[in-house]
Amino acid sequence: METKIWSVDKNNEVEHSYPQLQEAARLLRENEVVAFPTETVYGLGANARSDEAVAKIFQAKGRPSDNPLIVHIANRNQLEELVKDIPNLVDKLINHFWPGPLTLVLRKKDHILSEKVTAELSTVAVRMPDHPIALAIIEASGLPIAAPSANTSGKPSPTLASHVIADLDGKIAGVVDGGPTGVGLESTVLDCTEEIPVILRPGGVTREELEEICGQVHIDKALVQENEAPRSPGMKYTHYAPKAPLTVVKGSLGFIQELVSIQQEQGKRVGILTTIEHEAEYSADVIVACGSVDKLETVASQLYDTLRKFDEAAVDIIYSEAFPDKGIGQAIMNRLLKAAGQQVIIEE
Ligand code: TXA
Ligand code: MG
Repeated sequence: METKIWSVDKNNEVEHSYPQLQEAARLLRENEVVAFPTETVYGLGANARSDEAVAKIFQAKGRPSDNPLIVHIANRNQLEELVKDIPNLVDKLINHFWPGPLTLVLRKKDHILSEKVTAELSTVAVRMPDHPIALAIIEASGLPIAAPSANTSGKPSPTLASHVIADLDGKIAGVVDGGPTGVGLESTVLDCTEEIPVILRPGGVTREELEEICGQVHIDKALVQENEAPRSPGMKYTHYAPKAPLTVVKGSLGFIQELVSIQQEQGKRVGILTTIEHEAEYSADVIVACGSVDKLETVASQLYDTLRKFDEAAVDIIYSEAFPDKGIGQAIMNRLLKAAGQQVIIEE
């Protein structure tokens, strides 16, 4: 299949009348899959009501079918069509964080969506993305749009259209290129089916921000303890793995440099994932500065592109600095540790 690429400038007014977005929406109505930017990462969209359309997402990504998808909507009416009820707390969260990088898991109505979207769960994950292109396409399609990240399963999520094309060219009907996404990590997934909400996946909205609005928030035990089964099915898969083994190092720059030197003495090509503050301090084969440690948002927005850069650089082993486990740092460390298969070295 030929994958169409439409370039749309998100800074100019994104009108529904833009022919490119109309064409993307028409393909969605015809049960084709189309990738588009959101404020977190690029999504691979399909008609969430259609088994045929949703099957194409799983096929293009090579995604395990027991991993449910997030349904993307453009307005509040669409939410009411999908879920049984909207508790007060959820209402508050929506007013505060939507459109934005917060996915809410709620009890779903029966027979509204393809069962493939929800992997036969009684709940559905819903979000309203804060991106003019995503909103315009969803609105123009008139459909709830199921959309996982638009990468091959197991690869870093795409933050540029070129990442989508590298993974899915020839396998999907089209890509809307709207430039780099903003946040760079996926949305926070929050289970709202119990009295106290539970973070199933840390993401663009931080725990601290959530607690300001709704008081106490729990974190799924599986995110902090190794042998708990995660309640967000997607969290059990190894994700975002770069080709070379990656190890996160909690230690001084001198300690990291020592690890690098030991590997180099054995003839290995070594990569370091660091920040602009520290990049000049190291000597290694490939040094990539991933944002600024003083501005963790910049680390989040560049992390996936950085992981892809190491694949292109053909290194044998990668060491990464660790990041503070606060604010957006929680999502950064969650993704980094997954990319590392939980491999950590701690300086004594
Ligand atoms: O930022 C994002 O959320 C991006 C953009 C494209 O919107 N989408 C995204 O989708 O990251 P995906 O499919 O890569 O991740 C969806 C996550 C998975 O961890 C999945 O297990 C979880 O949401 N999920 C979906 N439905 C669920 C449900 N009913 N209950 C619990 N977890 C659910
Ligand atoms: Mg994903």
